[in-house]
Amino acid sequence: MLKEEIKRLAKQYAQEFIEVRHYLHANPELSYEEYETSKFIQSKLKEFGIPFEIKATTGVVGIIKGINADKKIIALRADIDALPITEENDIPYKSGKPGLMHACGHDVHTTCLLGAAKILNELKDKWEGTIKLIFQPGEEKNPGGASLMIKDGVLENPKPSAIFGLHVHPGLPTGKTSFREGKVMASADELYITVKGKGGHAASPHLCIDPILIASHLIIALQQVVSRNNNPYNPTVLSITSFQGGTTTNVIPNEIKLKGTFRAMDEEWRLKGHELIRRIATDLVESMGGEIDLHIDIGYPSVYNNEKLNSIARQQAEKYLGKDNVEETEKRMGAEDFGYYSQLIAGCFYRLGVMNKEKGITAGVHTPTFNIDENAIEIGIGMMAWLGSSVEF
Ligand code: NI
Repeated sequence: MLKEEIKRLAKQYAQEFIEVRHYLHANPELSYEEYETSKFIQSKLKEFGIPFEIKATTGVVGIIKGINADKKIIALRADIDALPITEENDIPYKSGKPGLMHACGHDVHTTCLLGAAKILNELKDKWEGTIKLIFQPGEEKNPGGASLMIKDGVLENPKPSAIFGLHVHPGLPTGKTSFREGKVMASADELYITVKGKGGHAASPHLCIDPILIASHLIIALQQVVSRNNNPYNPTVLSITSFQGGTTTNVIPNEIKLKGTFRAMDEEWRLKGHELIRRIATDLVESMGGEIDLHIDIGYPSVYNNEKLNSIARQQAEKYLGKDNVEETEKRMGAEDFGYYSQLIAGCFYRLGVMNKEKGITAGVHTPTFNIDENAIEIGIGMMAWLGSSVEF
């Protein structure tokens, strides 16, 4: 049986891929600068005998053909970039680069996809269809490596009908995985606002246009975008996170700069939200005599997990790990550039448990002490191979 074969190979190769992860972890590279990581992935695919091409400079796309290669085309995706964080773990494979760390587990994602690739290639006379292996750069930084890979044709020739991606979950115990269908993660757009007034002596406010007062009103006014316009059942967030301007007690400054984030799970509401932010901000600032410069930096779209694909994948995961080890993922207002794929083809973004309380492995992602319980690697490589080969979609 395919499942037993995959489990056997995942067990056999677990140590090899733990070492692959150690190499990646010790050698992190920032978004869009993943040159050595890309070379390493290429060398591994060469070693396994899997053909590949380069996309978006540091992205790598491999192809494995099973029996009846045209029957279905499934994509498996991993992100490969690291974060600008200095690692504080005391481990033999600690990041060799101060200020750089695989603190979001993308080293684990890359490892799982490489492991799945080796297994799927070895068993390619035992499953049907074609698997597209997508190693993408730049998940952590706008515009998102996924968008560049798509521009470079990653979803064409051949076009996959479904895509799987996994993310480590530091709150889920090793041995478990979790799924959720529908809207699972938010879009994230950045707000950059300059409120311009007219500076002058603080003792003569009547001769000035005070941008501090205007910006303060603006922050309050923007809260009505969500509280008075959005359906309460529709998750969304608007936060102003930075207020910069002014220098001293007796001067009214010329301008104030605000920054913030706007997150949504519904693409239609997201666009309406942009319109409301623009209108309310412009009208308010102008009504108080100021001028406004407003830029909405469009970030990743929300992650939408196709219902049918997720329910099939979840059933397959239950067969692989047992029903007790497959849980429901919580919704999050965090963003993931997997959203770009999931807006175009059926997507399933699932979670791999990596927490182990006894071993003290509980730190969250994007922290300097993040790490995983490496027993999760065997499950990660096997599950990805199993989903890619067994799910019919
Ligand atoms: Ni991540």
